[in-house]
Amino acid sequence: MKVLAIMGSPRLGGNSDVLLNEAIQGAKAAGATVDKVNLIDLGREMCVACHSCIQKAECVHDKRTNEVLQKIKTAHGLILSTPVWSMSMSSYMKAFMDHWGVFMNPDYTSRIPGKRVGFIAVCASPDRNYSIPAIKHMEECARFFRMRVKGKVAVKGYGAAGEVSKDKKAMAAAFRVGKAVAS
Ligand SMILES: Cc1cc2nc3c(=O)[nH]c(=O)nc-3n(C[C@H](O)[C@H](O)[C@H](O)COP(=O)(O)O)c2cc1C
Repeated sequence: MKVLAIMGSPRLGGNSDVLLNEAIQGAKAAGATVDKVNLIDLGREMCVACHSCIQKAECVHDKRTNEVLQKIKTAHGLILSTPVWSMSMSSYMKAFMDHWGVFMNPDYTSRIPGKRVGFIAVCASPDRNYSIPAIKHMEECARFFRMRVKGKVAVKGYGAAGEVSKDKKAMAAAFRVGKAVAS
């Protein structure tokens, strides 16, 4: 089983990275081979709405993003991890998901039905958990593509880089997300 882990924060070693790494351990414990992509490495390419992807099943505009999109096609499962930015996913994750037209046939059916997926989000707010709407948004996209949601963890209350590592409950939940994607 091949799993692709997507890190949606530019802050390497930050909270979404820490949680994603734990999910990766979970996926590996279930026997998966895991490849990880930091979206910051893809640059800041935005979709230009050329719509070629729907016909060609690839992004003709952005080579590096297209490589990751093609990897998703061949992976069995996907783990998406994002910090909350303005009550939703990070703009890195949103810009990446804006390229998911490659997964859509011209008749609006999915090119990747059944793909397994797990979600992780983390926000700083100690009160309201804005990770919930962030995950809901990502999940809505995944369900449109008929992906199978295997697990999710919506964490709140962590702002400083990496401090979520002290939260045993959140770390265990992230591990389970990875394991569920790979099981
Ligand atoms: C641009 C930006 C917007 C943010 N918006 C929110 C927000 O709406 N709600 C919130 O609780 N935290 C918000 N935060 C805080 C981050 O969600 C929080 O620090 C998180 O732990 C960062 O994860 P990371 O370490 O993986 O980057 C924001 C941070 C940044 C940089």
